[in-house]
Amino acid sequence: ILGLDSSIIMQSDVFMYSGHLDTFSDPLVDCRTCRARWRADHLKEQKCPGCGSTDLTDPRPFNLMMKTTIGPIEDPSAVAYLRPETAQGIFVNFKHIVDSMNPKLPFGVAQIGKSFRNEITPRHFIFRVREFEQMELEFFVRPGDDESWHDYWVKERMAWWVRQGLELDRLTAFHQPKEELSHYSKATVDLLYQFPHGLEELEGIANRTDFDLGSHSKDQDELNLTANVKKNAHAVQRLAIKDLNDGSWIVPYVIEPSAGVERGVFAVLSAAYTKEQLDNGEERVVLKLKPHIAPVKVAVIPLLKNHDGLVEYAQKVVQMLKRQNLGWVVLECAGSIGKAYRRHDEIGTPFCVTVDFATIGEDAANGAKDTVTVRWRDTLKQERLSLDELCQFVKTQLEESAL
Ligand code: GAP
Repeated sequence: ILGLDSSIIMQSDVFMYSGHLDTFSDPLVDCRTCRARWRADHLKEQKCPGCGSTDLTDPRPFNLMMKTTIGPIEDPSAVAYLRPETAQGIFVNFKHIVDSMNPKLPFGVAQIGKSFRNEITPRHFIFRVREFEQMELEFFVRPGDDESWHDYWVKERMAWWVRQGLELDRLTAFHQPKEELSHYSKATVDLLYQFPHGLEELEGIANRTDFDLGSHSKDQDELNLTANVKKNAHAVQRLAIKDLNDGSWIVPYVIEPSAGVERGVFAVLSAAYTKEQLDNGEERVVLKLKPHIAPVKVAVIPLLKNHDGLVEYAQKVVQMLKRQNLGWVVLECAGSIGKAYRRHDEIGTPFCVTVDFATIGEDAANGAKDTVTVRWRDTLKQERLSLDELCQFVKTQLEESAL
């Protein structure tokens, strides 16, 4: 799987061939009473959610792409769009990728980056927004192998989300009915997640067939494309791969896992957010992020913040952990040790390391010199480790967390 970072602003031709200019729209209704505008498919009854009026216009399509112009003259030839999906950047760069990297089927091209949609009703925290981050993989396969690769990617993506901390029983694979498929899709499986506001789409995994490469290709008559692909006279490249066995041209089929990063973050945060009752009756808020995705991996805390010996030693431990490239390690000198623990529980830091008087050789009864206490966020278990053991311990925990 190769990585790509393609452009965000793209010429309107790209979206004419991709079908987005004709079909990338939501049905929209206006309330004649309060003038609010709604997505027709989001209305529970034929009633304005704002004022309750039933005096609504008929639904009409509203294209979701954000329009702009390129260059100093605003004529129709200057029209361009902010990409509504990262995928088209992969298709229009297909020839460059194949020429430069010489990949063999099956292979993938993946991209993460901003996409833009003029959503009529952005809502539910970061669930539906107008500027969002997509992570998409276009996985190119031989026609005929597409259905088994589609099944493969559905299973793989489901397992990936579980590895990021989502509970399997809050995830559902939903096979879209034929009449709901996007214009490019032969079959789509949505991974739905039980978000705080309901069961909603987290990721879509589509079988895009040869639709996109075919639509952006010249020589369409020679390429044996499926009927779904539009004919056009302007495309200038043949987007196909030569079969080395018989010299024929293959237009690969595409399996596309496509996920929104914001929705992923929202799902991971809502799965991790926990409130616990402690033995002493207090409530503890813990963000139970898997260690490999927790922003702060380790907080090193001197037992007393105004004791030079403890603070200096804690700084040394921070430097030592940083040299291991384990991720973000912080020195935590604010407030009491209890408050520091709570703060790090709330931001999901999996390990707190305490430097105490035993560490600096001033309290042999409570541990050996040059050992520290590691506290686990979730179990509250504490363990005394040497500095070498500490490095190895954090490394192993991070590796195992991602498996
Ligand atoms: N290339 C295929 C494609 O874009 P999509 O189902 O329209 O398919 C893929 O979008 C994913 O992008 C969705 O599953 C969702 O996670 C995310 N997404 C789509 N629109 C979004 C929005 N307005 N705000 C946040 N995420 C969005």
